[in-house]
Amino acid sequence: MSDPRQIGIVSDVPLGTARQFEVGDDLIVVVNTPEGLFAIEDRCSHADVALSEGEVDGCLIECWLHGSAFDVRTGVPTSLPAITPVKTFSISADSADPNSPIYLTKGTTQ
Ligand code: FES
Repeated sequence: MSDPRQIGIVSDVPLGTARQFEVGDDLIVVVNTPEGLFAIEDRCSHADVALSEGEVDGCLIECWLHGSAFDVRTGVPTSLPAITPVKTFSISADSADPNSPIYLTKGTTQ
């Protein structure tokens, strides 16, 4: 994955929502939280389902299949049955500006 790479703009991911982006061979879910935008692997570590289809609550995204929540800041699950973190990605964007580009600044951090 080359750095940095624009993957969208802030208005693509309204506050409190998540959206999947395909970046090279990676499926990434970008989540817009009150603490800013974060990106994690769009695959639950418990089974092969997309986290982007789950509900966002603050800095957590809940897997729709069995209910594990993942902290999008760290990729760490905060509830069972998932016990393994998902990959995190570094992105930059001005979340206060809907027209701000979202840049993927680094590949996986875990
Ligand atoms: S598939 Fe996500 S918690 Fe089971």
